[in-house]
Amino acid sequence: MKAGIAREALDGERRVAATPETVKQLTGLGLDVEIESGAGIASGHSDDEYRQAGASVVQALDLGSVDVYCHVRPMEPSTAGALRPGSVTVGLGSPSSELPTVRALAAGGITSFALELVPRISRAQSMDALTSQALVAGYRCVLEAATRLPRFFPLYMTAAGTIPPARVLVLGAGVAGLQAIGTAKRLGARVSANDIRPASADEVASMGGTFIKLDLETAEASGGYARELSADRGALQRALLTPHVAQADVLITTAAVPGRRAPLLVSREMVQGMRPGSVVVDLAAESGGNVEGSIPGQDIHIPTADGQGEVTLVGLKDPASAMPADASRLFAKNVANLIALMTREGVVAPDFEDEVVAGTCLTHDGEVRHAPTAEALAALAGETGPFGSAHTAANPGSEGAH
Ligand code: NAI
Repeated sequence: MKAGIAREALDGERRVAATPETVKQLTGLGLDVEIESGAGIASGHSDDEYRQAGASVVQALDLGSVDVYCHVRPMEPSTAGALRPGSVTVGLGSPSSELPTVRALAAGGITSFALELVPRISRAQSMDALTSQALVAGYRCVLEAATRLPRFFPLYMTAAGTIPPARVLVLGAGVAGLQAIGTAKRLGARVSANDIRPASADEVASMGGTFIKLDLETAEASGGYARELSADRGALQRALLTPHVAQADVLITTAAVPGRRAPLLVSREMVQGMRPGSVVVDLAAESGGNVEGSIPGQDIHIPTADGQGEVTLVGLKDPASAMPADASRLFAKNVANLIALMTREGVVAPDFEDEVVAGTCLTHDGEVRHAPTAEALAALAGETGPFGSAHTAANPGSEGAH
C-alpha cells in the first residue's frame, strides 16, 4: 500500500505530516511512501532527506493511487473528491467547520480519520495531535508575550538595583495553559493561574504556578473536560478575576470548552485596568476569543484607563505552525502512530472494534461516523439526508474546540 504525504496548500501552514523519521516508521510497517517535493522544507527537511529515509519524492501526488493520504490541515473538498474510494486519510479534520469536506469524504467512500477526535485515553496519547500541538502553542504564547513586554521576566539583583520578576497570569490550565505556566516559570516570572476544573489546582502547582481559587462553582464534564459556565456565572468569574488581571504584567488566556465558542473571560474594561506596557496573549483568538476584541493574527493597542499608556492585546493565530520543526516532529509521530495501530503486514485495515480507531473515524463506507458532525450536516441540509445516520454508538464524542 502507498502512503502519500501532501505539501500543505494553506497559505502560512509550515508543518508537514511526515518527517524523515516517520517515513522510516511507515516503510518499516511495509508501506511505500510518496511525498510531494518541498513538503518538508519549512520544517527543515529537504527532499534528499526524505529520499534517504526511503520515500519517493514526486512533484504532485496522484491522489487516485494513494491508499493512505496524510495531511496536516483539513483538506479541500476537491482533494477529498480526487481520492480513491476506500482509501484512508489521516490528519486534522476540523469537522465542525469543514462540513463541505466531510460531505465530500463521505460521498467519496473515504475512510477518514480526524486527529481532533482521538479519544483522551492513555493508550491514545501517542496519537493525540491536540495535545502535541497545544504543547507547542502554550510554549510559543509565552515567547510572544516576552518579546513584546518592555521589561524582564526574571528577578535580577544587580549593582544598579533590583528588578522584580514579571507577574504572569494564565487563564485556562489545560495542556497549553500548563505549558505556558512551565515556560513562564523557566523564564523566571511569578506565575499564577485559574481554571474551572477542580483537578487543575494540583496540575498548576506541579508546574510551579500559584492556583487562584475563585469563589465559583467548578465546572467539569465527563472525560475531564470543562463545561460551559452559565451567563451569570461567567459574569461572576470575570468580576472575580478583575483584580488579578489588573495586577498582571502578562495575561495569557487558553480557555476552551469542547464543541463551543471559547468562553469570554476578560472584558475590554479589564484589559484597560492593567498597567501601561502590559501584554495580553489570547491563544483562543481563533475560536472566538477569551479576551474581548482580540483578532487572530493581530496586535491591538488598547489605551489604559489611567490614560498613561497602552496594553498590547495579541490575538494568536496558528501558533504551532510558527514552530514548524518541532510541531511537525510531534504531529508526524501522531499520524504515523495511528497508521501503525491500523496496519498489519503492510496493509492498512482499520479495526472498528478498537475504541481509538472507532473514536477517531470521521467518515467510513459512505457514512459520517462522528455523531455531532452528522447532525450538523443533517441540519445544514434541512433534512436527515444521506449523511444523517451517524453511528452514534461508535463515535458520540464532540470535537475539541481547536
Ligand atoms: P481545552 O483546550 O479543551 O481547554 C483548555 C482549558 O480551559 C481547560 O483546562 C478548561 O478546563 C479551561 N476552561 C474552560 N472554560 C474555562 C473558564 N471559564 N475559565 C477558566 N478555564 C476554563 O483543554 P485540554 O488542554 O484539551 O485539556 C482538557 C482535559 O483533558 C484536561 O483535564 C487534560 O488533562 C485532559 N487531557 C487528557 C489527555 C489524555 O488522557 N490522553 C490528553 C490531553 C488532555
